[in-house]
Amino acid sequence: MTVTSIPDTASSAQTARVAPPSLDELWMPFTANRAFKRAPRMLVAAKDMHYTTADGRQVLDATAGMWCVNAGHCREPITAAIREQAGVMDYAPPFQMGHPLAFELAQQLARMLPGDIDHVFFGNSGSEAVDTALKIALAYWQAKGEPQRVRFIGRSRAYHGVGFGGTSVGGIEANRKQFAAQLLPVVDHLPHTHDLARNAYTRGQPQHGAELANVLEELVAKHGAHTIAAVIIEPVAGSTGVLIPPKGYLERVREICDAHGILLIFDEVITGFGRVGASFATEKFNVIPDMITLAKGITNATVPMGAVCARHRIYDTVVNGASAGIELFHGYTYSGHPLAAAAGLATLDVYRSEGLFERAASLESYWEDAVHSLRGSPNVIDLRNIGLVGAIELDPRPGAPGTRGFETFVKCFEAGVLVRSTADTIALSPPLIVERNQIDQMFEVLGRALRTVG
Ligand SMILES: Cc1ncc(COP(=O)(O)O)c(C=O)c1O
Repeated sequence: MTVTSIPDTASSAQTARVAPPSLDELWMPFTANRAFKRAPRMLVAAKDMHYTTADGRQVLDATAGMWCVNAGHCREPITAAIREQAGVMDYAPPFQMGHPLAFELAQQLARMLPGDIDHVFFGNSGSEAVDTALKIALAYWQAKGEPQRVRFIGRSRAYHGVGFGGTSVGGIEANRKQFAAQLLPVVDHLPHTHDLARNAYTRGQPQHGAELANVLEELVAKHGAHTIAAVIIEPVAGSTGVLIPPKGYLERVREICDAHGILLIFDEVITGFGRVGASFATEKFNVIPDMITLAKGITNATVPMGAVCARHRIYDTVVNGASAGIELFHGYTYSGHPLAAAAGLATLDVYRSEGLFERAASLESYWEDAVHSLRGSPNVIDLRNIGLVGAIELDPRPGAPGTRGFETFVKCFEAGVLVRSTADTIALSPPLIVERNQIDQMFEVLGRALRTVG
């Protein structure tokens, strides 16, 4: 491309924002590119609970973007902090250099987390947080003199992002198939806990399924605890359709890990920051892991950021146990980026000053009733909820799985509500600032969509 062919962005910016000159060049992630480009759904602005579409419609956000805009869109204290930081220091190298905001954010996060989870390693996404946590687990066992502990145990129907580590411990076949030849070799999966036969239409945590954790004992018996580095679990699996842990399940996983000295990682990329009706899932379910991965709500999704939060002894073993020099050969150009750190601090401030986690908890029963009001709607086979998360599972069409869910998502979008479809489950997770009348609107629109999709 010659210099003269670069478009005049200053004059075309406004038009480009509403109608891009071309849809061809962008390769969209996790998207049916060809279908999308034939019938695009374009968002151009956002404020509080609403998106604005390219054709000027207001769309109520029932998914907090993608489980991440917990304080609502374009919140002034957060955008102002980002703007201000951009003018003070745009970037600082994170290797062998520091800047105060990253330290301050790490301290604030450590104070929010339970037990001795008091050290924080920053990256830029949930995927990076997961891969970082897996690497920290390996580094920990090496430093402890048990380098043979290399096996990771994930779960079926888990989503841990798209790095090779996260894809390997993840349990979504479609995500693994194209890359199966090169996934991590020493990985096992526990079964998922979704059990419609026993638990359909449960409000909150299901009664049945804690015993599924015992499969971990079988894996220990098969491979030997001395070979297992870590178990990674989403306390509530989000991306595969809101799978809520049965009562006693997470406790049992923790017990088995403790019995065999295995590290337990909670992937709280979705469940963190008030989403499940407590600050974090670890608090909601009263089970403390050894590491927690965070992303999404950490900056209210304004600037990409992810984090691994580790127990004191993990940091101590890897860092203080090492000889002089770099202790962990891992990090990102943008670890603790100043704009992300500024956004994170401002976000935590909004969460605190507006009491948003408590607000989510106080809305939980209203939300639960709203979710379960769809009982009896066409093709609904399950409704479930926890905190400000809900799921509507639809009976898949014979021979065309996923189409009913996707059409419901499109119908809702056309009717002014953004929901998320994952296969034939509609997942809901509104910003924590949602009002009751907005909850009503979401479920009215959903009810109508379900009646028309058929
Ligand atoms: C539980 C969980 N872990 C990891 C990820 C990956 O996060 P990212 O898309 O920021 O890489 C996600 C994303 O949805 C997630 O839900």
